[in-house]
Amino acid sequence: MNFLEHLNVIMRSNHSLINVVTYEETRLITMLAESSLFKDKNIIQWDLANGFKAIQGNISQLKKLERPDPLLCLREIEKSKVGTIFVLRDFHYHYRESIIIRAIRNLNYELQFTKKCIIIVTPMASLPMELREDVLQLELPLPTYEEIEKQLESIIATTSLHRPPTPQLKEKLVESTLGMSLESIKTMFAQVIITHNVIDERAIEIVLEEKRSIIQKGEILEFFPVREALNDIGGLDNLKKWLRKRSKVFTRKAKDYGLPSPKGILIIGIQGTGKSLAAKATAGLWKLPLLRMDLGKVFGSLLGESEENLRNAIRLAETISPCILWIDELEKAFAGSSGSAGDSGTSARILGTFLTWMQEKSKPVFIIATGNDITLLPPELMRKGRFDEIFFVDLPSASEREAIFKVHLEKVRPVIRQFNLQKLSAATDKYSGAEIEQIIFDAMFSAFDDNQREFTEEDIIASVKEIIPISRFMKERIEGLRQWAVSRTRKANSE
Ligand SMILES: Nc1ncnc2c1ncn2[C@@H]1O[C@H](COP(=O)(O)OP(=O)(O)OP(=O)(O)O)[C@@H](O)[C@H]1O
Ligand SMILES: [Mg+2]
Repeated sequence: MNFLEHLNVIMRSNHSLINVVTYEETRLITMLAESSLFKDKNIIQWDLANGFKAIQGNISQLKKLERPDPLLCLREIEKSKVGTIFVLRDFHYHYRESIIIRAIRNLNYELQFTKKCIIIVTPMASLPMELREDVLQLELPLPTYEEIEKQLESIIATTSLHRPPTPQLKEKLVESTLGMSLESIKTMFAQVIITHNVIDERAIEIVLEEKRSIIQKGEILEFFPVREALNDIGGLDNLKKWLRKRSKVFTRKAKDYGLPSPKGILIIGIQGTGKSLAAKATAGLWKLPLLRMDLGKVFGSLLGESEENLRNAIRLAETISPCILWIDELEKAFAGSSGSAGDSGTSARILGTFLTWMQEKSKPVFIIATGNDITLLPPELMRKGRFDEIFFVDLPSASEREAIFKVHLEKVRPVIRQFNLQKLSAATDKYSGAEIEQIIFDAMFSAFDDNQREFTEEDIIASVKEIIPISRFMKERIEGLRQWAVSRTRKANSE
């Protein structure tokens, strides 16, 4: 059932108050007016600037209001003829006024069985508590392939292009704009045509550029440049194997084959063991854009603002998809979501919104969440089936430390130099990858300071003592984490 059919069923089942969440007011109204489903209805819109305006049918039944007052608007609706759809804009500005809330609730009762329907259009899904029972909330989906195609055709038809685009290019262009609003798509097509007077490959570039700039406007998501590859990770063979096996999973072929889209993974582990590195390397391996979500910034001060922020960020990620959505330090955002302290209400709702999205998400957005303090993570998040897999990253084993030394030594001395990796590994028992990297830099600083001579294994071993590994002063916590991980997670480290 498409959106309009769904709306129609709702109206026919005597629901008279509907909140449609969308930024695309004009598109919604056009869709209603163009649909044959509502052709025997009056469609009347109302907004704060212009009051009532007929879209279909006429408004002679309605009293001309002195000023566009929301309360008077509701009274007029109550008195109006049956069989009218009222599309109300700007009402969310009044959601804090008790008299408006009361008037809407009363109207709900009055309107039943009158075949009148009120559609309140809001850019945000933030119905006040009092209205949640009475008002049914629907989200207008983003434009479909067919709608965008129609838009493109009509632009092509009305402009005199040097040469029309090939069908293949048209298809590619429509696909690349999927996920954007019709308004921005229109503007963008117009921009392409005005600047180049032709639609060619450059148009796709412009679309991607536009998508990137959408991300830059939002603060919660950040486009993260990826330079890392899987080879930059020393060890963690199990995790790497899992990722390699799925590297083609978002391709058309995989879809045709019938493979389900993976949802995402949670990587839990000790500090500095390569969790964030793994997120970046996955984007490198899968050749997908990496978006980092700062969940801390999701939290806003106004009621409903946080959920709205999250929803917008999710929508943006879906716009960019296929992509990887990296949520670093997950516990920071959800700490307290199941407790009773402070803002537990908000974090619990954010968690709810997030979990629902994970459950229902149909767009290829692969989540990589990373964290190291499981005691702060809500158990709901780790329940089976939420993530495809929960990986635990332990301190590197002896052979993994060799691999980590190799990765980092080759980075600073790409021309092969022989180091005794076994010896280096033996000297760094219980050190993390981040600490090993630090030790190498330390050795280099010491040697450079000593007449700029080349650094040696001995320098590295001498530096080991300079750094106290985190494992020494967090012994109990690490042991606790391991205990927890045994039965609940898959090992990221090599067997
Ligand atoms: N397994 C590894 N192989 C190679 N380098 C590593 C490895 N683990 C850590 N490093 C080095 O340490 C740096 C920091 O690691 P990273 O940020 O991935 O740790 P983390 O597990 O996310 O830690 P935190 O829990 O503190 O966020 C990496 O950029 C990398 O240079
Ligand atoms: Mg990290």
